[in-house]
Amino acid sequence: MSKSARKILVTSALPYANGPIHLGHLVEYLQTDIWARFQRMRGHDCIYVCADDAHGTPIMLRAQSEGIEPEALIARIGADHQADFADFLIQFDNYHSTHSPENRHFAETIYTRNRDAGHVTRRTITQAFDPEKSMFLPDRFIKGTCPKCGAQDQYGDSCEVCGATYSPTDLKDARSVISGATPVPKDSEHIFFKLGDFKDMLKGWLVADKTPEQHTDTRHTAVQPEIARKLNEWFEAGLQDWDISRDAPYFGFEIPDAPGKYFYVWLDAPIGYMASFRNYCDRNDIDFDSYWAADSKAELYHFIGKDIAYFHTLFWPAMLHGAGFRTPSAVFCHGFLTVNGQKMSKSRGTFIKARSYLDQLDPEYLRYYFAAKLGPGIDDIDLNLEDFQARVNADLVGKVVNIASRCAGFINKRFDGRLSDTLNDDSLFRNFIAEKEAIADRYEHREFGQAMRAISALADRANQYIDDKKPWVLAKNEDTLPEVQDICTVGLNLFRVLLAYLKPVLPAMATSGEEFLAAGPLDWINLSTPLTAHTIADFKPLMQRVDPDKVQAMIDASKDNLEPTATPTGPLVDDPLADEIEFPDFAKVDLRIAKIVKADHVEGADKLLQLTLDIGGETRNVFAGIKSAYSPEDLEGRLTVMVANLKPRKMRFGMSEGMVLAAGPGGKDLFILNPDDGAQPGMRVK
Ligand code: MSP
Ligand code: ZN
Repeated sequence: MSKSARKILVTSALPYANGPIHLGHLVEYLQTDIWARFQRMRGHDCIYVCADDAHGTPIMLRAQSEGIEPEALIARIGADHQADFADFLIQFDNYHSTHSPENRHFAETIYTRNRDAGHVTRRTITQAFDPEKSMFLPDRFIKGTCPKCGAQDQYGDSCEVCGATYSPTDLKDARSVISGATPVPKDSEHIFFKLGDFKDMLKGWLVADKTPEQHTDTRHTAVQPEIARKLNEWFEAGLQDWDISRDAPYFGFEIPDAPGKYFYVWLDAPIGYMASFRNYCDRNDIDFDSYWAADSKAELYHFIGKDIAYFHTLFWPAMLHGAGFRTPSAVFCHGFLTVNGQKMSKSRGTFIKARSYLDQLDPEYLRYYFAAKLGPGIDDIDLNLEDFQARVNADLVGKVVNIASRCAGFINKRFDGRLSDTLNDDSLFRNFIAEKEAIADRYEHREFGQAMRAISALADRANQYIDDKKPWVLAKNEDTLPEVQDICTVGLNLFRVLLAYLKPVLPAMATSGEEFLAAGPLDWINLSTPLTAHTIADFKPLMQRVDPDKVQAMIDASKDNLEPTATPTGPLVDDPLADEIEFPDFAKVDLRIAKIVKADHVEGADKLLQLTLDIGGETRNVFAGIKSAYSPEDLEGRLTVMVANLKPRKMRFGMSEGMVLAAGPGGKDLFILNPDDGAQPGMRVK
């Protein structure tokens, strides 16, 4: 390669640490991962970092409602996120958290430098305050009646019925979603970032040619045309000061010169990109400044969804510039995922969590399907589950894998795994190689769908070649047997080129293919030399067809089941076959001493008792399957052990908010775990 290696840093948006990864998120992480793998395969130095976005009110409140510290919540969710990403073969070089020392450092640096340069101002504003919870309420935590159309139960910022936008003080019968109290107006001094100072700078950033020296393409602008249009609208509307502070209580970083005030989550969220990279640099001896200094020659790209363009194309470059750091080379936006043509929906079973997919299906199916659908623009992309099965089966299993399985059998069985000494049909192979730069160009510009179509067209030609040559006929005759070896050698070489082209999308299949071809890792450079006079390994099927039952099982598992089929509480049964769990799984279980303050029969239930449990100031309603062993009178006043952080489950008889632990074979011999004297309700069980 004559071009020198590029230095590239790429990021995906940081997922919030208060919910699971779903297939919508994966559009972004898969898009970025495919792009980063492609760059690495081309021999470039491409570092891909991400982190969990761990701060803000929703995370603070969720931790409170689970009765745990926010640190415990973000650790648990962060671990789940990383497991999901790893199982989707997303290869981060580093995955960090915005709740980290590196992020605190950069948030403070960026804030103080902007402040010292005069880009920060303070003024007092009036906001809705929850007098019971003693906290200011974000708009989303206020509900009431729409002032325009009278629709009830609308959020504080906008009405979902008539579309009106307003401020929470306009809402009728406003109440706090957290406590139910009526919000009162209250003054507080806030800190603002003067975005308007950066208007010219941002306009310049937008139009500057971001073509990296080593890269001779001219399609490099900081944002896509659709986003540029949006930005111009925003410039027209005027750039308002941005409120970057929040009052305590808030889970975040306290502002250095404003005690009791915290950086708004969106201030330190993008700074998390730097923090994750810093953390990576420290562990790998890489020079941070060569990537982030104002005169850096490295390329910096952010992949994001279109909903967060404002933060990434206005605030973020402005904050960086104001603090003397470089700005992004480009921000790449993508559209939103729909499933079967509609918004993801829990009732239809199309709000599919990453884990629900992984429980049933091969991650590479989705990697391929999204790649086939992704383009450089911001259009929404649809996951049509019929089309998903049809495409994966037809394109991958039917075409690509088929080439290898058709040829490998002959080579392994008839020629001891040996390929011919020369490539008999060189022109077809050369045609395949000739597409290399065109396909690379598609990847480079995020035209993955076009790349997949080009690869699929090549796969058709390879299959056509084999169909025409009919090795299975020639194999029947000793005289024509050498031709079979030549044909299959060509076929496997064509397969090898296709596999290399697909490697950014299908890394696991590429690895299995590399093992079978036994000629080292495939990259973009070594590809042009065909494999001849070489012995391949045994062929193992590279990919199975999509099983429609598994797709259905995934949808079923994603449906909001109002009535769980299994009894939520029951005896712990000794099961020698039960899967082992890891320590972190165990550590997630919050066991508490609970006092049974009330126990009742449940009308219509033959196993359940309804228990009211006191766990130290908080009461829980739990349905427990212990009626066979206890009558309610026996239980009242006793202490037991409960799982306090079990997600509440809606049962036929009401909501069950935890689980009581019992031991024994069942029936009459079922013992609730009785803690020692001295235990107090609410105590944690270690
Ligand atoms: N925490 C912020 C991002 C901070 S970046 C400094 C956030 N988190 S998120 O979890 O809501 O979303 C993470 C990314 O996933 C965003 O880029 C978002 O656009 C994307 N998506 C979330 N749902 C999506 C779909 N249904 N479809 C496609 N992308 C989606 O925003
Ligand atoms: Zn309305």
